[in-house]
Amino acid sequence: MRIIKAKDYDDMSRKAAAIMASVITLKPDCTLGLATGSSPVGLYQNLIAAYERGELDFSKVSSINLDEYKGLSGDNDQSYRYFMNHNLFDHVNIDKNNTHVPNGLEPDSEKACADYNAIIHASKGIDIQLLGIGRNGHIGFNEPSDHFTAETHCVDLTESTIDANKRFFEKEEDVPRQAYTMGIKTIMEAKMVLMVACGADKADAIKGMVEGPVTPQVQASILQFHPNVVLVADEAALSKVTSI
Ligand code: F6R
Repeated sequence: MRIIKAKDYDDMSRKAAAIMASVITLKPDCTLGLATGSSPVGLYQNLIAAYERGELDFSKVSSINLDEYKGLSGDNDQSYRYFMNHNLFDHVNIDKNNTHVPNGLEPDSEKACADYNAIIHASKGIDIQLLGIGRNGHIGFNEPSDHFTAETHCVDLTESTIDANKRFFEKEEDVPRQAYTMGIKTIMEAKMVLMVACGADKADAIKGMVEGPVTPQVQASILQFHPNVVLVADEAALSKVTSI
């Protein structure tokens, strides 16, 4: 695992965006694995700025997002489809037909997950998977558990995740209790994993991921077995890691 120290959120976003931009430049028809949440917003802003400067072309790029709340439509401003349109897709020349987010409106979980797995299997593989990390070590919405789940599945969100995400909703009751998420095997099959993390509230999760035992209780710890992980994090997020 390569660890790149960033001075602050802006520095983290710039450094991580440069890595993602290089993948797009090297392989214009690449498949990006994308994430939502507050961690990647600055990275997306940097990609948009590079596109506006004429440095990046998204016309042949495809994307596969990590997750979506069950029950929210793409028009709902809390859905992850809405987030992606608003924070990236509406501002670059990506063909939205080539962008994929689980269908939050599919009530049949088995069907929603099978449909998303079919999209993942039909792709030529994820070239770079962008990840944030939950305070409890989740990646995507793979919550602490007694096992790792391979492919797309429906999860009950933990109290810690509901608490962390309520800032985006008017009331805590509005936070959906379930989500569809890409599984750990799919994340592990990405050719490269790029994680961004910022802030002291991520320090325990980052320590568990980098130095802790590999355990489904800290789902990100499995990344220790991935051959090509880059973590870009600020000092506060790295404050409990002793091996750097
Ligand atoms: C988002 C996702 C989540 C977030 C994580 C961190 O698509 O899958 O795992 O990356 O919850 O969220 P932020 O960045 O808001 O701290």
